[in-house]
Amino acid sequence: MRKGTTFTRFIIEEQRRIPESTGEFTLLLSAIVTACKEISDDVNRGQLINVLGSAESENVQGETQKKLDIISNEVMIKALEWSGHLAGMASEEMEDVYPIPNRYPKGKYLLVFDPLDGSSNTEVNVSIGTIFSILRCPDGITEPTEDDFLQPGTRQVCAGYVLYGPATNLVLTSGQGVNGFTLDQDIGEFILTHPKLTIPEKTSEFAINMSNQRHWEPAIKRYIDEVVAGKDGPRGRNFNTRWVASMVAEVHRILMRGGIFLYPRDGRENVHEGRLRLLYEANPMSFIIEQAGGAATTGRERLLSVQPGKLHQRIPVILGAREEVERVTRYHLEMDKEREGDIPPHRQAS
Ligand code: F6P
Repeated sequence: MRKGTTFTRFIIEEQRRIPESTGEFTLLLSAIVTACKEISDDVNRGQLINVLGSAESENVQGETQKKLDIISNEVMIKALEWSGHLAGMASEEMEDVYPIPNRYPKGKYLLVFDPLDGSSNTEVNVSIGTIFSILRCPDGITEPTEDDFLQPGTRQVCAGYVLYGPATNLVLTSGQGVNGFTLDQDIGEFILTHPKLTIPEKTSEFAINMSNQRHWEPAIKRYIDEVVAGKDGPRGRNFNTRWVASMVAEVHRILMRGGIFLYPRDGRENVHEGRLRLLYEANPMSFIIEQAGGAATTGRERLLSVQPGKLHQRIPVILGAREEVERVTRYHLEMDKEREGDIPPHRQAS
């Protein structure tokens, strides 16, 4: 007999704590996780089953799609549309919302997902993942439209990701902390390996794509200049950097050992509003990070409070260790004040 709580047991026990629960949410989660196991298998065998490489098509954001992006999207739809728990889905890989076809029963939830985040890493065998967020479908709606999905991150019922790395990890929150599971390939079940994850408040590790430095706003330049100055600079200690170019992997690292992740907006034409997507990247990750004791901001406001304006909206993302995130926010607010001419330009960190 193997030791450890299986994911199935975990969600059923969680359900029992909520007397009015119908079990619908539990079954929805179970179906999502089954889809992710299938994606995990495709990712794992990618080279062998000829599903790596470009699909030679573009998604709605004009990004080249990988074959695995399209396959993962299909897997999610096929695994979930029949379930009866959803009224609609939206994904990074689909321009419009996907209402549940009328041949299936409709449910009370909406699912938003990035089927394969960080997919530029598929050919180089570096960690990638699926990110998802569950919202409640507004009352009385059975044919949801884009407007029904435009809910701030504070309204998420649940958020999670599955990381396809050396091991396959599932990390999940439904607003009562964050729990992490590892896929036991032998029995095909996720096992609770990281109960009640928390992020250390302090960190000396940061993740940002340094090649964009020349495009950053002064607040980000200031923060990064200070951390790279190390123990001789205003922070008085050395920092380390990591950049995987896969947000799922960066967030997972932060949950495991702390850190801060920054994908700020910058001066490039397509990054004016940020690079990452609000509904299916920033919001679920921010929910997880906050639930683990960290913080997430656009630089100017709490990320989870942002009212989305459109399905594929982009947003600046700064998340991780609370103290660092608060510092970056302060630098933005000071920069904005300086721009208004309220206070003299600062040169030093406080
Ligand atoms: O949006 C997808 C994504 O791959 C994220 O997972 C990652 O953090 C980011 O893009 C990497 O962007 P860049 O290639 O600009 O470093």
